[in-house]
Amino acid sequence: MSEVAVTAPLPGTALDRLAAVHRVRVRPPGPPLAGAELAAFVGGAEACICLLADRVGAEVFSACPRLRVVANYAVGVNNIDLVAAGRAGVVVTNTPDVLTEATADLTWALILAVSRRVLEGDRMVRQGRFEGWRPDLLLGPGLQGKTLVVVGLGRIGTAVACRGVAFGMRVVAYTRSRAAAPPGVECELAGDLDAVLPRADVLTLHCPLTPETRGLIDARRLGLLPPGAILVNTSRGEVVDESALVAALEAGRLSGAGLDVYEREPAVHPGLVGRDDVVLLPHLGSATRETRAAMADLTVDNVLAVLAGRPPLTPVALSPCRPGET
Ligand code: DGY
Repeated sequence: MSEVAVTAPLPGTALDRLAAVHRVRVRPPGPPLAGAELAAFVGGAEACICLLADRVGAEVFSACPRLRVVANYAVGVNNIDLVAAGRAGVVVTNTPDVLTEATADLTWALILAVSRRVLEGDRMVRQGRFEGWRPDLLLGPGLQGKTLVVVGLGRIGTAVACRGVAFGMRVVAYTRSRAAAPPGVECELAGDLDAVLPRADVLTLHCPLTPETRGLIDARRLGLLPPGAILVNTSRGEVVDESALVAALEAGRLSGAGLDVYEREPAVHPGLVGRDDVVLLPHLGSATRETRAAMADLTVDNVLAVLAGRPPLTPVALSPCRPGET
């Protein structure tokens, strides 16, 4: 029997399965953990299940020598120091696949909510400002025949691209790793982001947060978008320079933006909060009951596998060195 430290309760019954085999310590819901506080919580545990807001830095790996696996309850692993994990010989796992469709659906909820001004309409009705049908009431850009630029053609980007085709959009995917579009997805591939941005009626972001993608959509790139474009981000907030986005919205250069993630999450840039042309969600990409339970199952299965000496189901590739190191 091993000890497993879990930084927050998880939905579904997965933790019960884990507790049937191992000693499980679950921290009550609270603010994210980092540094010495997280190291103290993990203590002598052999496995840690953490959330995407917990920061698993090098200090955790050095202070917790018994740790064998960190299982992130998320697909994104930007919160974990993968170099330090590799050096400490700790396995890191994540939750790919199970959240793909839910996140793609939520991306489309944002695209539709921004383009069709759904929240503005809702507020108008609730506030008693709806005075009857009018030919010019809350018009937004249509999507049919327009161009959807998908940044990152991984699982979620691909699922978003498929939905774009179903909505009658021309889909262009910016990807540095694929030589051909995934089977069954009608999309053009582009290897030069700056060259495709001027075509993006809707720009949607699905890349992981890495040193290369931090601040990818900055003032210069926002300036390359055509007038009236829509920006949607369900990846990681730090991919977008939020101040630059606010400036572009204030200048009236975009139709709007739909954000599920924020540069300084959970803080939101004050320039976004009062705007009618943005839709702001509290990081709900994977928030369906089924998906969150499936994420918990996969996280627990990864821990069970590693603690039993088997290969994990969904390991994360660990970086051998930091950028600039050889
Ligand atoms: C993830 O898994 O990385 C998502 O952001 C959670 O919804």
